Amino acid sequence: MLPRIPSIYRGILTLVGITLLLFMLLMQGNRPDTVRLRRLQIQNEVMGRVQIPDESGMEKSTANIRTTHRTIKETIRHQNIDTRNIVNPHNFSYLKNPVNICSGKDIYMITYIHTSPKNFHKRQTIRSTWGDKRLLEQYKTKIVFVMGRVDDTKVMNKLELENAHYGDIVQEDFLDSYKNLTFKGIAALKWISNYCNNTVFTLKTDDDILVNIFKLVKHLKEIVEFQLGRKNLILCNQWLRMAVLRDKNSKWYIPKEDFSPDYFPPYCSGSAFVLSTDMTSRMYNASLYEKFFWVDDYYITGILPSHIKVKQKRLNEAYILNGRVVYDKLVNDTKNQLMFFHVPKLNTIFSMWRLIKQRLKMHIQEEFTWSPVVSPDTVV
Ligand SMILES: *[C@@H]1O[C@H](CO)[C@@H](O)[C@H](O)[C@H]1NC(C)=O
Ligand SMILES: *[C@@H]1O[C@H](CO)[C@@H](O)[C@H](O)[C@H]1NC(C)=O
Ligand SMILES: *[C@@H]1O[C@H](CO)[C@@H](O)[C@H](O)[C@H]1NC(C)=O
Ligand SMILES: *[C@@H]1O[C@H](CO)[C@@H](O)[C@H](O)[C@H]1NC(C)=O
Ligand SMILES: *[C@@H]1O[C@H](CO)[C@@H](O)[C@H](O)[C@H]1NC(C)=O
Repeated sequence: MLPRIPSIYRGILTLVGITLLLFMLLMQGNRPDTVRLRRLQIQNEVMGRVQIPDESGMEKSTANIRTTHRTIKETIRHQNIDTRNIVNPHNFSYLKNPVNICSGKDIYMITYIHTSPKNFHKRQTIRSTWGDKRLLEQYKTKIVFVMGRVDDTKVMNKLELENAHYGDIVQEDFLDSYKNLTFKGIAALKWISNYCNNTVFTLKTDDDILVNIFKLVKHLKEIVEFQLGRKNLILCNQWLRMAVLRDKNSKWYIPKEDFSPDYFPPYCSGSAFVLSTDMTSRMYNASLYEKFFWVDDYYITGILPSHIKVKQKRLNEAYILNGRVVYDKLVNDTKNQLMFFHVPKLNTIFSMWRLIKQRLKMHIQEEFTWSPVVSPDTVV
């Protein structure tokens, strides 16, 4: 029961009530924009983009605000990102970000190499063999090294010098460790989709892999593009029915709690694989919706392509992954089929590289058309 109130007070109370109601309705009306803005902000963080371009100055004019809202709607429709369902946000900030590696240039292939801050010698070896800048220029190819952070000031300082000199390092702010390799893979996909989306192919390798870059580019241009096109491609050394290792002493031991089946669905050796670059932004987007799993090869080359319904194409005959026989296999490779070599010893990389270059020169002399993109003088 209401207490008895004189009618004048009742009138005032009703007025206050109506005002409150109107006020709440107004706030309600404003909310969607605020929510949309917040969602865009999250998206931009997730996509690694800077905040909304210049229009983001909400405090500017109303015209600008209207443009911003239109941009927001278009962005949401265009990217079709559902921020509510993101299970694996990848929002580490960049410690090193060479944004201009690909921008405005005609580049055929971007190569990213998984490495760790302390692996200076491995990176140097690559830079002075198959990753030589001037050589790669002839093939319209660029290289970046991708890594996380370590809590070692000495290493991080040395890295500063290295990067000041070469400017080819992408570094994100996550701890660089074995169990975090999946972050490295996602970091690379994200970086390439944001900064090298203008390239045709993307090559991934580890820092102990030797690539016959002459043979690879020729193969992509003359066989792959011709037979398979430039889209929806992942070419690799495909594993079928790879057993999940349950031996607790193995480096690759995977407990049942992490992954219960006894065999993996098809995936690729992470040592080296090729993507058509259109895959990188779709795979990065897929990673936002696929729970983090530390077995990076399987996560990046199995789970993500499967999410976007792309099957791996086998290139197994081009790989030698057994480090003990790798040199002899190259010597014996008279049919010149091999492109990717796992070479644990740095010295062996140099001698194998010399052999590859010698053969290239011989081929160019013998057969004029062997490699149209390179002239003998380029190969020093
Ligand atoms: C990103 O992935 C989600 C989940 O699979 C999908 O619904 C969405 O269409 C994708 N967006 C783009 C731009 O590929
Ligand atoms: C990344 O996103 C997660 C979840 O939204 C949040 O908890 C975390 O603070 C964010 N990290 C950074 C560096 O922004
Ligand atoms: C992975 O990186 C994150 C972010 O730096 C860190 O918190 C976590 O401890 C790392 N995990 C492992 C297993 O190294
Ligand atoms: C990359 O370029 C393709 C067209 O070539 C476009 O459809 C896609 O949205 C671009 N991705 C990003 C992340 O900008
Ligand atoms: C290389 O070829 C020789 C002669 O055919 C053979 O004896 C040797 O086993 C081969 N080496 C490897 C690693 O395949």
